[in-house]
Formats: sequence, C-alpha cells, structure tokens
Amino acid sequence: MKIVTIGRGQIGGGLARLWREAGHEVTSLGRDGGDVSEADVVLIAVPGARISEALSRVTGLEGKIAIDATNIMPARQGEFPSYAEEVQSFTKAPVAKSFNMNFGHLFDQVREQRVRPSNWYVADDGAVKITEQLIEDAGYDPVRVGNLSRARDFENAVWLLMGIQPVGGVFYRFAQPGEL
Ligand SMILES: NC(=O)c1ccc[n+]([C@@H]2O[C@H](COP(=O)([O-])OP(=O)(O)OC[C@H]3O[C@@H](n4cnc5c(N)ncnc54)[C@H](OP(=O)(O)O)[C@@H]3O)[C@@H](O)[C@H]2O)c1
Repeated sequence: MKIVTIGRGQIGGGLARLWREAGHEVTSLGRDGGDVSEADVVLIAVPGARISEALSRVTGLEGKIAIDATNIMPARQGEFPSYAEEVQSFTKAPVAKSFNMNFGHLFDQVREQRVRPSNWYVADDGAVKITEQLIEDAGYDPVRVGNLSRARDFENAVWLLMGIQPVGGVFYRFAQPGEL
C-alpha cells in the first residue's frame, strides 16, 4: 500500500517505521505539508488543534481514505463535532479513528508481547478494510467499537485511558471468554 503520514513525530514516524517493516511504501510529511495524490490512504498525526492548519497545506486529499490518530488533549478545540469529522471535511471520503488510543512510545515493544495488544477504533464502513489491515501490520488486533458517528465519544474516552497513565503507558487487550 502507498501510505502518507501527515505528521512524522512519535505517532506518524513510529507507524511509518512499523508499516515499512510490513512492506508498505510510506512517505511522511511535516508541518510544511505536501501532496498526497498518489496515496492509497493517509494517516493524520498532527496536534489535534492544528488539523485544519496542517491539512490546508496538503494537496490531493479529496477522496482519500484517512486514518485520524489525533487526540483532544489538552482540550478539544474548534467547531466540528469531532476531530475525525474535521479531517473528513477535507477528504470528503471514508474516515477511521484509530491509534489515538495506543501509546506511541510503546510501538517498539508491540511485537514482543505474549499476545497481540488490541487497537480499538471507529470507522466509516468504507475505511474498515484498510484500517484493519494497517492495525494488523503495526502488530495490533483491531477491535471496531462503532462507526464514525461515535468519533466524539471515542475521542473523549482518551481521558479514561490517561487515567491509567501513572503506570507509564499500557497495552490492553479485549478478548472473548476463553481467549485470555
Ligand atoms: N504520542 C502518543 O503516544 C500519542 C498517542 C495517541 C495519539 N496521539 C496524537 O497523535 C498526534 C501526533 O502526536 P505525536 O506524539 O506524534 O506528536 P509529535 O511527535 O509532536 O509530532 C507532531 C507532528 O505534527 C506535525 N505538524 C503539522 N502541523 C503542525 C503544526 N501546525 N504545529 C505543530 N506540529 C505540526 C509536526 O511537523 P514537523 O515534523 O514539521 O515538526 C510533527 O511531524 C497528536 O494529535 C497526539 O495527540 C499521540
């Protein structure tokens, strides 16, 4: 797959590395923007309050499937119901919200775990196949918890995840009875 990450920091750069290891062709853009016309999918990994500023410097977004990894810390900003829908106002295409509930500084340890950690996400139907593939290729098991209409609730749930933060970042796994 041809992937462009918009943001090349802990999340954009970290996922770029994992996806390259899985055989994908990944380009990473910083705050100066660039063009994504050739991409099969774009990852949004810039500060949440900077989405519109960052995406206004990117050409070729319309029609692209997007995975939005931004989160609302330290406080939600802007007029959109969710950051994922702010992304969608640029792409006008299916969007997934994923990797916002996983810790970037643990990416290097994902593949060392006894079982695959989960990555819970919400998505439009049209973004599910690519998103699940890229979650798996990063070493996680995908768990869809709704469609994009749940994006705001999902973004707000980051505060619950951060409540566990005193232990310094966590992996988690959702499992059927008997699978743990
Ligand atoms: N770190 C985590 O564990 C984690 C987990 C889940 C979600 N997230 C979310 O993922 C997103 C990226 O986080 P990160 O930790 O990867 O951040 P980061 O390491 O600080 O990287 C931020 C990236 O965004 C780019 N960017 C584009 N426009 C920008 C602007 N106007 N102002 C500042 N930076 C701009 C930066 O460009 P340059 O390269 O040109 O500086 C940089 O590549 C954030 O929304 C964050 O809340 C982070």
